[in-house]
Parts: sequence; structure tokens; C-alpha cells
Amino acid sequence: MSETAYLNGEFLPLDKAQVSVLDRGFIFGDGVYEVIPAYSRRPFRLPEHLARLQHSLDAIRLSNPMTDAEWTRLIHDLIARHAIEDQSVYLQVTRGVARRDHAFPKDSKPTVFMMSGPLVTPSKELVENGVPCITASDFRWLKCDVKSISLLGNCLLRQAAADAGAVEVVLFRDGRLTEASASNVFIIRDGRLLAPPKDHLILPGITYDVVLELAAACGIPIELRAVTEQEVRSADEIWVTSSTKEVLAVTTLDGKTVGSGRPGEVFKAVHQEYQQYKRKVMRHAA
Ligand code: PDD
Repeated sequence: MSETAYLNGEFLPLDKAQVSVLDRGFIFGDGVYEVIPAYSRRPFRLPEHLARLQHSLDAIRLSNPMTDAEWTRLIHDLIARHAIEDQSVYLQVTRGVARRDHAFPKDSKPTVFMMSGPLVTPSKELVENGVPCITASDFRWLKCDVKSISLLGNCLLRQAAADAGAVEVVLFRDGRLTEASASNVFIIRDGRLLAPPKDHLILPGITYDVVLELAAACGIPIELRAVTEQEVRSADEIWVTSSTKEVLAVTTLDGKTVGSGRPGEVFKAVHQEYQQYKRKVMRHAA
């Protein structure tokens, strides 16, 4: 089965899906997106992803082109058109096609695009050994809670990580931890889980919420507060989380060993809970 896309009301082969060069997504990066993992062909935390999509659309003053029921039906339909069990569904909504002018067009129709591909989660080796990360100053804009398709800052930062042979780049703004280029960041100090609270400086990760729920269920004390760069650099454990990375331990930061240099005990407990939770949720979704 070849990859199928959805574009403005129709399903078609991905390589046949085309938009105008005047689309504001192409010209200005004027749009928002979501990445939704599907396990055993069932979308994970779909209502939460759709709520975040609504938040992003509201933030850029674009009305939602579909109801949650319509999104849900289309996403299930797209998944059903692919043979793979575990998929990563990508959707984006842009402000549509209009003559180039920074101000919003009066009557453009949003462009709605979706595709789905294999969900590539970290290998057993990465989970068991952890990953290297670097750090950088967070120079992105001040609306990082919006899942904007304008990802140039994130791409530049991630490329710096790739150039250094690292998996992610942990970001600091004014001496405080924000997140990473495409993940949220947690640290463990003295058995406590610390993370920055959800505000305009980080994306409100769906996995962030799952990890907090699972950590609480494991009885791990949680502190959501500003986390200093010094606290990160001397943490016992550092984790990155996202829909595709799930939860992954960082074992070196800027070439320096984190904690014991191996994924920590708290990470192992929460990672195991995550795997169990996924399987449980998927069984109930049947
Ligand atoms: N990125 N922070 C940023 C900047 C992100 O881009 C992402 C996800 C996250 C984690 O969010 P979630 O847990 O909802 O996936 C945090 C997606 C996966 C991407 O752009 O591919």
C-alpha cells in the first residue's frame, strides 16, 4: 500500500498531493500542526491532541475547519488506509492561499493536510544506553506553546545537535530550562522529578502530561517550577519526552556524564510504566 495523504477534502497518493506556492503556509509559515502517534492503529490521546490543535488555532486566530468528531473520523480513516500497525499521523492547517500580504486575507480557505507514516520510536539500544544531548540558548519566539509550522528556530537548533552527533538540544532561556528542539525535558534531583511548568516558553507536550501522571502513580515527588541551568547540569537524571521519542534518558550533556552515565532508576521505572500504560490504553480502545 503506498502512502496516502488527505488534502482539502480528498484522500490521494502522498506524491500527488500539491498546494499552491501562494499558500500562506509556504510563504509565511502561517499555520499550525500536530503529530499524533497511533499504536496498533489506534490514535493515542487523540482528544488531548485535538484540544492542543484548537489552542494553537485560537492563538493564530484561525477558525477550526472541522469539528473534533470530523477530525476523529478522518484520522481513523487515514490510519485505516495504511498497512503499518504503529503510525505517526501528521496534520497541518494553514491560513490558505492568498496574494502575498502579511496581514490576514479576508476570505481565504484554510488548507488542511494530513499524512501518516511509520511511527519510529527509540530502539532498544537507545532506551537501554541513553542518548547524548548538547545545550544551547533558546532563541525562539515567545509563543512556544503554539504548535506552529514555522519551525526554523527548532530546525537550526536540532541541526546543531545533529552536527555534534547528539540526539537533542536542551534549551536555556535566561538561565532557566525551557525544553528541547522537539521534546520536553525533565530532570531528577534527589529522587524528585522537576520540570518547567506549562507556559508560553514551552510546548504543552501530550507526553509531558502522560509522564507526570505515571510518575505521580509511581509515588515520585513532582515539582513543576522554574528549573535553573545549574540544576540541569548537576542533575542525577535528564529525560527528553515526545510522542515519537516517548521517554528517553540523556546520558551525556555537552559531552559530560549525566549521573552515573547510564539511564537512571527513576527513568527505568517510568519508562516501564509508559510501555505498560500504552498497551493497557490500546487494549481498552479496541
Ligand atoms: N514534536 N516540544 C517541542 C518543541 C516539540 O516539537 C514537541 C513534539 C514536544 C513534545 O510534544 P508531544 O509530547 O505532544 O509530542 C515538545 C513533535 C513530535 C514533532 O514536531 O515532530
